[in-house]
Amino acid sequence: ISPSCIKIILYVVFFFIISCMGKKLYIKTYGCQMNEYDSQKTLEILKQDPSIEETKNPNEADIILLNTCSIREKAEEKVYSELGRLNKLKKINPQLKIGVGGCVATQEGKNIYKRAPFVDLIFGPQTIHKVPSLIKEENKINAVDVSFPIEEKFDSLPKPDATGVSSFVSIMEGCSKYCSFCVVPYTRGDEVSRKPEQIFDEVARLVEQGVSEIVFVGQNVNAYKFTLSGRIIGLSDLIEVCGSIHGVERIRYTTSHPLEMTDDLIDTYGHVPQLVSHLHLPVQSGSNEILTKMKRNYTREEYIEIIKKLRKVRPNIKISSDFIVGFPNESDYDFQLTMDLINEIEFDASFSFIYSARPGTPASQLEDSIPLQQKKERLYILQKRIDELQLSYSNELVQTIQRCLVTGVSKKDIKQLQARTECNRVVNFDFQNIDILGKLVDINITKAYQRSLAGQILELGRT
Ligand code: SAH
Ligand code: F3S
Repeated sequence: ISPSCIKIILYVVFFFIISCMGKKLYIKTYGCQMNEYDSQKTLEILKQDPSIEETKNPNEADIILLNTCSIREKAEEKVYSELGRLNKLKKINPQLKIGVGGCVATQEGKNIYKRAPFVDLIFGPQTIHKVPSLIKEENKINAVDVSFPIEEKFDSLPKPDATGVSSFVSIMEGCSKYCSFCVVPYTRGDEVSRKPEQIFDEVARLVEQGVSEIVFVGQNVNAYKFTLSGRIIGLSDLIEVCGSIHGVERIRYTTSHPLEMTDDLIDTYGHVPQLVSHLHLPVQSGSNEILTKMKRNYTREEYIEIIKKLRKVRPNIKISSDFIVGFPNESDYDFQLTMDLINEIEFDASFSFIYSARPGTPASQLEDSIPLQQKKERLYILQKRIDELQLSYSNELVQTIQRCLVTGVSKKDIKQLQARTECNRVVNFDFQNIDILGKLVDINITKAYQRSLAGQILELGRT
């Protein structure tokens, strides 16, 4: 036999052994908490097939799925660069299946096959439950239809597997707000709320598995609405019921819209102690003119009023926000109004980005004469100010006792554990016994850094 024949035989034997060993799955997630949730669910759906196991190393994977984000142009371009790298892996291993899911898949549809013909499957956020059958398909299939009934996805999600002490629970999907700059309503469809019993089943199961912090997630969680026996169930009802489930120590929710910060939701802060004293409530801009152009449907004054009401019920509540800097023709004055609002509210953290024109959105048609350099300078000023506010609040925490949820081993030092304060700051502290994972403990804060705190545990809190 010639050496090239031996090579081919070895190659065939190698791939035969690999295929008998089962399949390794690698999922890479871009973007928001909804994508993180969808990736976790896709993993759980695929792992129902016992021959599939997860790997953190793309080089050894048989199936690679990219769960993508198209909120800004940069996020979308990252996906195509990653696909370029994956093409090289596919040349070495032609059996490799590559899938593109998430919002880029919906936005681009079959165009992905034009730019990256080696991709095997594309699926949208609504069709993750179709992934197992799509992987088996020989033909390239486009399953990105946003009109796909989201209820079908909710109904076909497997029972959750807890991966830590904190877990996301999706309560709704999509967005019907159609802000003038945003692609989400087009990529994820309109708002659809999940059945309350499904949500509570999921919470109960997670708690049984040791989860003590529930994070309700969705594009607009406070738009949650479900009619049950003639009564409308809202986010405040979900929080109240969840707070009464034994073992739920903390409840968070993200992301919410100022327009739906109703009085009953604000009141919930007065009687559900598990609801944390931290709220992410994106304002986007402090200028009414820009807010109107963004089609946000609230004013700066209305936003301030919401925060005042919240602080009346929970004086120590910390607020974080998303900001868009450099919306078309944002003037120096508009930007100054945003900075004034930041100083007035004292935002504790932010996700802030330069405006990115997205195809198909109304704002992408607007003229814009503001140079990119000026937008970058504004972003720098905004982020620097938020960092200062963040550090100043962290310094205020020094020498106070904070009730914290123990979330894992410290990333800085394996001899330490890591916990989170109510406003989600990481606290590292000396403690060896991992039995306290998932428990609330009292920690004396001893030092503040920009992104974390150091502390000493006092005593075990409620368990
Ligand atoms: N529920 C949230 C929306 C979440 S979308 C709300 O009430 O606003 C996530 C964030 O992405 C938005 O808050 C916005 O700050 C940012 N974003 C969306 N489209 C964008 C665009 N075209 N350019 C820059 N940032 C954008
Ligand atoms: Fe996007 Fe506005 Fe909805 S930012 S997700 S359209 S609230």
